[in-house]
Amino acid sequence: MSFRVHEEAVLEIRGLAKSYGRVEVLKGVSLSLFAGEILALVGDNGAGKSTLIKCLTGTVSPDGGSIRLRGKDFAPLSPRQSIASGVSAVYQDLALVEELDVATNLFLGAEPLKLGFLVDRARMHDEAGRRLEELGISLPSTRARIADLSGGQRQAVAIARAVARTMTRERGAIVVLDEPTAAMGVRESELVLGIVRGLRERGMAVLCVSHNLPQVFRIADRICVLRSGEMLWCGRTEDISMSGAIALISGVSPAEREDGGQGL
Ligand SMILES: Nc1ncnc2c1ncn2[C@@H]1O[C@H](COP(=O)(O)OP(=O)(O)OP(=O)(O)O)[C@@H](O)[C@H]1O
Ligand SMILES: [Mg+2]
Repeated sequence: MSFRVHEEAVLEIRGLAKSYGRVEVLKGVSLSLFAGEILALVGDNGAGKSTLIKCLTGTVSPDGGSIRLRGKDFAPLSPRQSIASGVSAVYQDLALVEELDVATNLFLGAEPLKLGFLVDRARMHDEAGRRLEELGISLPSTRARIADLSGGQRQAVAIARAVARTMTRERGAIVVLDEPTAAMGVRESELVLGIVRGLRERGMAVLCVSHNLPQVFRIADRICVLRSGEMLWCGRTEDISMSGAIALISGVSPAEREDGGQGL
């Protein structure tokens, strides 16, 4: 992507290392993330994907290496600090409150107030509706309870909340998604993939962990393959085949596989 040559990465990870006891989970991992791209981080179970993400969101402190955010050293000590710097993550459990409505979940802890202490519910619903519309998310109502929504709609609310938290610095805001379409049917997945593409169109940088390679190949601009804590390959999606990606992820060459590499 030639235009990237002149563009500075929003996020620059260099030589990131993390061990738990004597087990090296990240062995000097490097990766750059640019505004307006979807970067897919793929790798087998235990490869270190979530650990890498947790270093970005302030839940894990790396033992070595560096992270630079918009050219400045970045070492968040908590999710709160990470969000304040414009890095927001959606985890697989989504962390939504089932019994509360969509709007309340979007604002959780930061609801608009009237008279300084009462939640301004009318304003909260207006604002929630506006934010969802901006992201192209259509839900039955901002008054619907999370418990009554489908999996895709819940994921949509969780993404909207992550975006709302980083809204202050929208261009170059970083949204980290961990398996955004896991356990979803085709229609639900399409809904979520559409929202993720919308984030890219708005100039955000999306780092997406996924085990779903067909989806990765459809939406990612670039793919990074992590295996046993090492970054084996990072490049443009068009420069790797699905079969090649599977070989890197698994460590088994296409010819050695039972299907001879023809299956995909
Ligand atoms: N808090 C911890 N203490 C000890 N070991 C840990 C801890 N967290 C992760 N690990 C180990 O680190 C390795 C990488 O885990 P991680 O969760 O980053 O993998 P992953 O790539 O996200 O896998 P998955 O695709 O299954 O989610 C695994 O071997 C895991 O057991
Ligand atoms: Mg994980």
